[in-house]
Amino acid sequence: MTPKERAAAFCRRFGLAAPMIEAPMAGACPPGLAASVAGAGGMGALGAVLTPPRGIAEWVAAFRAAGGGPLQINLWIPHAAPTRDPQAETALRAFLGRWGPAVAADAGEAAPPDFAAQCEAVLAARPTAISSIMGLFPADFVARCKSVGIAWFACATTLAEARAAGAAGADAVVAQGAEAGGHRGSFDPAAAESQLVGLVSLVPRLADALAIPVIATGGIADGRGVAAALALGASAAQVGSAFLRSPESGAHATWARSLGAIEPEETILTRAYSGRLGRAVANDYALAAADSAGPRPAPYPVQRGLTSAMRAAALATGDRRTMQMWAGQSAALGLATPAGELTRRLWRDAEAILA
Ligand SMILES: Cc1cc2nc3c(=O)[nH]c(=O)nc-3n(C[C@H](O)[C@H](O)[C@H](O)COP(=O)(O)O)c2cc1C
Repeated sequence: MTPKERAAAFCRRFGLAAPMIEAPMAGACPPGLAASVAGAGGMGALGAVLTPPRGIAEWVAAFRAAGGGPLQINLWIPHAAPTRDPQAETALRAFLGRWGPAVAADAGEAAPPDFAAQCEAVLAARPTAISSIMGLFPADFVARCKSVGIAWFACATTLAEARAAGAAGADAVVAQGAEAGGHRGSFDPAAAESQLVGLVSLVPRLADALAIPVIATGGIADGRGVAAALALGASAAQVGSAFLRSPESGAHATWARSLGAIEPEETILTRAYSGRLGRAVANDYALAAADSAGPRPAPYPVQRGLTSAMRAAALATGDRRTMQMWAGQSAALGLATPAGELTRRLWRDAEAILA
C-alpha cells in the first residue's frame, strides 16, 4: 500500500476528506477551531481533561452549531492522587510567589473534574472517536463506546504503550514524538523523561509492529511534515501547535507571537506548570524552575494548583516571562491563517510531495 492509499483507507473509515487531525489541546481548542478543521475535511478535537461534564456537552453543541463533522474528544487517564509533601510545597509557594501573586496555602488542593462523569458526558456526545493520553480507558467504557460506533484513538510514546493500547482494543494509536508541544503521554508519569523518542523513530517502529493505523503527532506543522509522517508509515497526521496561531484558537496574543518566532531549541520539557512533563516555550520562569538550585515541582495535579495564580496573572497582564505557553519544536512553521485554510494547505502540500 502506498502512503496515499493508506491515508485514503483511514479517511474512508473515519469519514474524513483529508488525513488531517487537530490535536486535542486542553484549554486551547475552542469549538470554532475544531469546526474549521472539520469543515476543511479533517477531524476536530476537544481536549476535555479540565472540562466538567456540562462543559463537554456545551462545547459539542457549539461545535455542531458551527458546522460540526468528525470529532475526537480526549481525556487524560487519571492516576492515584500523589503523596503530599507540606514542607516542599511551602518552599514552592515561596518560589512561585516571586514570579506571581502570593500562593494561597490551599492552592495545591486542586482536583481535576470527576473522570467517570466526564466519560459519561463524552459517550453521550457521540464523537467519532474517544481519545486517551497517559494510559488506557477502562475496558467497560471502551466496550460501551464501541457498541454505539465510537472509535478509540490511544496516544502512545513507546512501542510497549502502543502494544498495550492495541491489546486493549484501540482502533488507532497516536504516536507522540518527543517534538510534541504540551504534555507527554507516557503511561508512567515518572518515566516521561526517559521515553523521549523522536517521531522519525517512533512512527515506523509502531507501523511495522502494529496491525492498527498509526496517527503521527509531534512537530508536524507543514506539508513536508505531513508527507514525511505518511511516508514513515502513518495513516494520518495530527497537528497541535501549528494551529495555535490561527485566529480561531484563542491563544493569548503573547503566546501566539512567541510561537511565530521560536527556534526548536527554545522550547523546554518541564514539569514546572503542572507537575507532569510537557514541552513549552523556555521562558524565564520555566528556565528558573529548571535550575537545580530551585525547588523541584510538586506532582500533578498539586503543581497545577500551586501555579494557577501565576498562570492567571500572566494571562491577565500578557507576561511572557511567566505565561504557560505549550509549544512543539516546529511551532514556528505554523501560519497565522484561519485553521480551515491551514488544514487544506497542509494536505495539498503533502499530496504534492507524495504524488
Ligand atoms: C496547548 C496544548 C495542549 C495540549 N493538551 C493536550 C491534551 O489535553 N490531551 C492530549 O492528549 N494531548 C494534548 N496536547 C498534545 C497534543 O495532543 C499533541 O500531542 C501535540 O500538540 C503534537 O505536537 P505539536 O504541538 O508539535 O503539533 C497538547 C498540546 C498543546 C500544544
